[in-house]
Amino acid sequence: MALPPRVVERLRQVVGPRAVTDPEVVASYTTDWTGRFVGHSPLMVRPRTTDEVAGIVTACRELELALVPQGGNTGLVGGGVPLRGEVVLSLTGLKDLEAVDDRAGQVTAGAGVALADLQQSASAAGWSYGVDIASRDSATVGGMIATNAGGLRVLRYGDTRAQVMGLEAVLGTGAVLSHLGGLVKDNTGYHWPGLVCGSEGTLAVVTAARLRLVPPMPYRTVALVAFAAVDSALDAAGLLRRALPSLEACELVLAPGVDLVCSATGMHPPFPVRHPVFLLIEVADRTDPTGSTAEAVETIGGVLDVAVATEPARRADLWRYREAHTEAINTLGAPHKLDVTLPLGALAEFVDTVPATVAAAVPTARTWLFGHVGDGNIHVNVTGLSPDDYRVDDVVLRLAAGLGGSISAEHGIGTAKKRWLSLSRSPTELAAFRSLKHALDPDNVLNPNVLLDSAGG
Ligand code: MLT
Ligand code: ZN
Repeated sequence: MALPPRVVERLRQVVGPRAVTDPEVVASYTTDWTGRFVGHSPLMVRPRTTDEVAGIVTACRELELALVPQGGNTGLVGGGVPLRGEVVLSLTGLKDLEAVDDRAGQVTAGAGVALADLQQSASAAGWSYGVDIASRDSATVGGMIATNAGGLRVLRYGDTRAQVMGLEAVLGTGAVLSHLGGLVKDNTGYHWPGLVCGSEGTLAVVTAARLRLVPPMPYRTVALVAFAAVDSALDAAGLLRRALPSLEACELVLAPGVDLVCSATGMHPPFPVRHPVFLLIEVADRTDPTGSTAEAVETIGGVLDVAVATEPARRADLWRYREAHTEAINTLGAPHKLDVTLPLGALAEFVDTVPATVAAAVPTARTWLFGHVGDGNIHVNVTGLSPDDYRVDDVVLRLAAGLGGSISAEHGIGTAKKRWLSLSRSPTELAAFRSLKHALDPDNVLNPNVLLDSAGG
């Protein structure tokens, strides 16, 4: 539904023509990347400064309009699209990226800076950024903080929360909270980055962040190691963590997913024989880690085949068996993405059980499993069912929680999983969540339909 002209006018007083009502333009902000979550909105606003963000939040509070903050729109749980007609607050215009502070090994970046640009600028300055995800070209600093993005290198450097040394954000009141000093030690009360990371745009709109950088590791070795069963791959992952202190990634893929990647991309299978389970590992160091990697792989039992790559193009080829899972699965239709963590002792049981559990719930459904097993994180993607059929989500999330896992490892709760949040959080925790929401966003302006049921009330 169109907004009254006086409302649009009020927002244009803040951002001028960057308050856009043209339905064609707005439409490109209303559907998520997977195509599963399709929303609608009368308006998209694209501020370029923190003051403009504060002006927009203040105006929306006065006008009783709800906002959905959005970065690169690469979220996977329907948390960044206006499913109930909210105004879209695109943060992609906040693009300031300061020079790297070499003494501190930190950089201050605007919320709209794309991860790939951050990585490039860190690398040009002789540093590296600790978090990497496949959607690096579109994902933004603000979105990654709001969702506490994890990805491929959590094993070594931790998640986004572990990188954020300071934060600037606009609260739901319109007030600007700025704590960007980047002090490593700063025990002066509540930790804003800890609170805002993973809050999915419900407490504050991130406008800038002070991020820690890590030393670059120029020598890299990638190995694809084949096993007969998930159990042996997990034993191997544990051994490799101990044997290789420079282990940076440890990913699991299974034969059906690799077959799908090959048919979707035209790639050849990795080995002449079809193996059921693979670990993809990357070791990165200041000197060539190929010898130590080969030695470590030799010590593990149950290895059926190994492919090793050091040269960048060949490393990228091996990575493609893992990273192309997302696009290959999308060729089958919008998947349900159920991103869970399991205690490592229960992960093999989960992986072995989940396809039958899914098929029992919806016989037409097909399960695709892959993920960051170094962190106990497995991505359960399910195709062959309609976007609003939640039977599979229900059985998979209950199975994960029943085995002591969490219903979200890294994608968040968004709108997709909020009805199951109580599987992972106690009533006391949820009550504290609501109190926090009320304190920082008393009129429920920021992403009111995400994370908590009943709009935070
Ligand atoms: C990934 O690790 O590739 C994504 O987080 C998972 C996905 O696309 O389901
Ligand atoms: Zn992932």
